[in-house]
Amino acid sequence: MDKIEEAIEILKKCNQEHIIKFMETLTEEEKENLIKQINSIDLHQIIELYDNAQKPVEIKENKIEAIKYIDKEKLNNNEKEELDRLGESVIESGKYAVVTMAGGQGTRLEHTGPKGTFKLDVYGKGKYLFEILAENLKEANKKYNTSIPWYIMTSRENNDQTYEFLEKHNYFGYNKQDVILFSQAELPLMDFDGNLLIGKNKLINLASDGNGGTFRMLRKSGALADMKERGIKWVFIGGVDNALLKMADTTLLGLAISENVQIASKSIVKADPHERVGVFCKMNGHPKVIEYSELPEKMAEEVDSKGELKYGESHIMCNLFTIDAIEKISKENLIYHSARKKNAYLDEQGKLIIPKEENSYKFEAFIFDAFEFFDDIAILRGKREDDFAPVKNKEGVDSPKTAKELYEKFWNKKENSEIK
Ligand code: UD1
Repeated sequence: MDKIEEAIEILKKCNQEHIIKFMETLTEEEKENLIKQINSIDLHQIIELYDNAQKPVEIKENKIEAIKYIDKEKLNNNEKEELDRLGESVIESGKYAVVTMAGGQGTRLEHTGPKGTFKLDVYGKGKYLFEILAENLKEANKKYNTSIPWYIMTSRENNDQTYEFLEKHNYFGYNKQDVILFSQAELPLMDFDGNLLIGKNKLINLASDGNGGTFRMLRKSGALADMKERGIKWVFIGGVDNALLKMADTTLLGLAISENVQIASKSIVKADPHERVGVFCKMNGHPKVIEYSELPEKMAEEVDSKGELKYGESHIMCNLFTIDAIEKISKENLIYHSARKKNAYLDEQGKLIIPKEENSYKFEAFIFDAFEFFDDIAILRGKREDDFAPVKNKEGVDSPKTAKELYEKFWNKKENSEIK
């Protein structure tokens, strides 16, 4: 069977006849490109994901418990110093690397361009999110007399722009040889009737496969091998959009080492039952985060005997892994979640349709689903005002305005030496 017949056969089997029809509108070259793409996609996987998306998220038959954590505030000076020393020794000896997940779209922020290129209006002049992260790492490099390798995960859409931006700004003074970009993978979008969408480029519409794809792409891109070559033992993975992210938190690292675990994470207390953050728990004995979009109302509001939210430890994208943990996760299949999105597409006649409402599923793996592969996790409870200034929405909560306030307040306090 030749490539065209093969692709048509697959499309028929997977009920994607609309694409066969659409092909009639294409030139030979366009058709060839589309066929090539179809043959490279695992359509059976997408159909399975679509079928799963039809089922409600089920978590009630599992045994769910609250997560245990250590409150940084409640550590005495000796305890904190001991943990910090453990963490510092790893960083000083060059065994620590950082990954920034910068493949997201930043749709809610309405910023065109990679999210890291968003300029936060701080201290008059403003700072780009990438600049804030670079400064944070440079401060650690100076303190620990090292140069922490910084891996940045981009997407197909924003990789070139990210690269050009960092070049233009001379990596904000970071050692260029220690900044490594790699791109995340993609999956097709599917409409609510199970049809693949065709994009303006006359190919099947693909979108980033979620931040859970980080592990596999670290391995596939060669970044993991690069880490091993550099002798890295611990890897911090964080988001791009928290202006107060601590990329080299020695207490968190020390806690992971002292608790002899392979994964660790920083939490903060959830602001209210309905804050849009994932929450930690233990499910069937394994650490887990339940994302805000999937957290049942009853669980969100449940309080313990002290009147505190039972599932009140928020996941703020401060995750730490041993290099062995990354290797292990990179070979596992994380589950995919489905999000309902509005996506423009070409119909069978090649006409552009811009939907007014959500019309399709985007399939995404979540970074924290990797926690379930481990028996334990060390959780360090930090403080909102020190650790979390997310830039998510254009206005209102978690917006540039709230992040600016938190950022400036933190740095004013730090400069007055109230924070070490
Ligand atoms: C995320 C967390 C949520 C947490 C919150 C805190 C996930 C799935 N959810 O939610 O539990 O409480 O942050 O701020 O992680 N990204 C990629 N590629 C992708 C998708 C996302 O690199 O395909 C990156 C983004 O650039 C960003 C981070 O992952 O750095 C978070 O993504 P976002 O979609 O903003 O997550 P939230 O919904 O805010």
